[in-house]
Amino acid sequence: RKVVLAFSGGLDTSVCIPLLREHYGFDEIVTVAVDVGQPEEEIARATEKGRLLADKHYTIDAKEKFVTDCIFPSIKANGSYEGYPMGTALARPLIAEEIVKVAEQEGASTIAHGCTGKGNDQLRFDFIFRSAGYDIVAPMREMNLTREWEICYAQDHNVPVSAAKDKPYSIDENFWSRSIEGGNLEDPAFHPPEDIYAWTVSPRDAPDAVEEVRIEFEKGVPVALNEERLPGITLIRELNRIAGRNGVGRNDMIEDRILGLKARENYEHPAATVLLAAHRDLEHLVLTRSELAFKRIVDDKWSELAYMGLVHEPLFYALNAFIDRTQERASGGVDLGLYKGGLSVLGRSSDLAIYSDDLVSFDSTTIDQNHAVGFSNYFGLQARLCQNLKKR
Ligand code: ARG
Ligand code: SIN
Repeated sequence: RKVVLAFSGGLDTSVCIPLLREHYGFDEIVTVAVDVGQPEEEIARATEKGRLLADKHYTIDAKEKFVTDCIFPSIKANGSYEGYPMGTALARPLIAEEIVKVAEQEGASTIAHGCTGKGNDQLRFDFIFRSAGYDIVAPMREMNLTREWEICYAQDHNVPVSAAKDKPYSIDENFWSRSIEGGNLEDPAFHPPEDIYAWTVSPRDAPDAVEEVRIEFEKGVPVALNEERLPGITLIRELNRIAGRNGVGRNDMIEDRILGLKARENYEHPAATVLLAAHRDLEHLVLTRSELAFKRIVDDKWSELAYMGLVHEPLFYALNAFIDRTQERASGGVDLGLYKGGLSVLGRSSDLAIYSDDLVSFDSTTIDQNHAVGFSNYFGLQARLCQNLKKR
């Protein structure tokens, strides 16, 4: 019996390997690590551990795909959930699709993952694996395991573990965002220590001067940083460094998971914060009032489906079609200032702006202001009639 395991090299998925043998009776275990921009050491560790512990290991480079197929659409959709830019949610479906490809190639009929039964990731993974017709094994949730038990079990089975007992954070990282949860962070009142963050400095320690950045978009996609055209991956990495050193892009929040559980979540996502702010601002220059108002609803719905990982929901395709149509005009540049954890838009420009300084300027006479009187006569007419009724 063969099983393909979604593998990160972390505690949960490492413990899965002996469990799948001993407890589930699989005799061939294939591990798959999918690279969506985790730190290089993490991918290297997964590769090394997979080769050591499993019968066969694959490391798949999905970085390019993650940027083009997941991050770019999420920028166009201003993708955010309860106020933070989604990251894990965007990567899960892609990781799952890559694992399905390996399972097909390996002729396995079961896919295993190390998600708990308390989170969102199980649902995002299961959706893709079930759609593709696979049986699912999830030892953490089926055996109700705790991290403490896992650490002991790992030690008994010669599985190298890096999660120390005193710092048991669950960290999920890709190009777009880094999330930190678990351990003492589970007390919502607990003030997190500075060292949970790796991409951002504390705003307190950020430089005392405003750092300016310029982002250029073409059809809703960022193509240049500070006048330099860059491939998506490079642009995001570079912007993570720039915004991170200015303390921009942290969240500490209580999040509503799909299951209904509330969870304390800490995030850092410097580039995402800057790019989403810049993109939203640009949209206000190039889209009509009607488009903007409707797109807010579409973006919200898009984000809700993306959060749940329901990327094959027909509505998701339909929303993407609407969004892509609006983004045909979302080209232009935005200047931003980064300062001690804060961000402000300094200016924006576009050849496709629906903006006429000639019309709006207080100093121009192109518009005869008297024409507004006619408009004003009818403005709020029904409300005024109602007010009159009340007076009678
Ligand atoms: N709460 C976030 C989400 O649902 C982050 C999940 C992080 N996942 C993890 N395995 N640590 O998208
Ligand atoms: C997990 O429970 O496996 C991680 C957290 C999440 O999925 O939200």
